[in-house]
Amino acid sequence: MKHRLAQAANAATRTSEKATFTPQQAKASLEQSLAALRTDHIDLWLLHEVTAADLRDEVLLGLLEEQVRRGTIGSFGIGSSADKIPSLLAEHPAYCHTLQYEWSVLDPEVDAGTASPFRIHHRALTDNFRSLHRTLAEDEQLRQRWSAATNADLSNPEDLAHLMLKAALVMNPKSVILFSSKNPRHIRFNVKTAEDSSLEAPARELHRLVQTERNQLSQAGAS
Ligand SMILES: NC(=O)c1ccc[n+]([C@@H]2O[C@H](COP(=O)([O-])OP(=O)(O)OC[C@H]3O[C@@H](n4cnc5c(N)ncnc54)[C@H](OP(=O)(O)O)[C@@H]3O)[C@@H](O)[C@H]2O)c1
Repeated sequence: MKHRLAQAANAATRTSEKATFTPQQAKASLEQSLAALRTDHIDLWLLHEVTAADLRDEVLLGLLEEQVRRGTIGSFGIGSSADKIPSLLAEHPAYCHTLQYEWSVLDPEVDAGTASPFRIHHRALTDNFRSLHRTLAEDEQLRQRWSAATNADLSNPEDLAHLMLKAALVMNPKSVILFSSKNPRHIRFNVKTAEDSSLEAPARELHRLVQTERNQLSQAGAS
């Protein structure tokens, strides 16, 4: 069952060419996704890897709003990279009900004002975790100082991963934080990490340290 669902999701999201974000292409893509998933409703429809320059045709916005009115989709938004978000928000706020983009402890705090859209974040770990772990492995003084400040053993990859995941959660309390793992032990620990309030202060401290000592980090290879 899980395998069949994964295959259907892959088929629904896989495309061989870059989307052009015309209303016709969007409608065809929605119909294809509904058929592949064998459903008549999608909770959240994200325009994937879209840029501000792609959204020239206001008919597309009308199509998205119509699909919400019909109940085919619950809501819509944008899934793109963090560098594209400011211009999308400035030029096309009506498309930005939900924003999905990467955030990790290596990124500054997001200004989540009262009118800010709902956010979904990924990449709290992955290559950011690997680069930060490498930096700490190569710099014993930094590792010892940060471990003392966060009350964690940051030479231990799992402790570092937990604090990075917790930082994504506490620094973005109104957002959904996605993670992926093929390791059942990691999945169990990640759930515990989300529930463990004693990690909140250390996770904030890790974020503060990374942000205030960024220059030192880039010299050591984390970006
Ligand atoms: N990356 C993107 O551009 C992107 C874009 C849109 C959506 N998404 C979605 O976002 C979700 C998360 O993916 P992601 O790319 O952001 O990756 P991620 O969750 O930031 O990182 C995943 C990596 O972290 C490791 N990991 C997880 N828990 C760990 C733990 N407790 N200790 C040590 N290592 C741990 C996993 O290895 P193990 O398997 O060994 O645990 C895996 O290698 C996925 O569903 C993905 O489809 C990603």
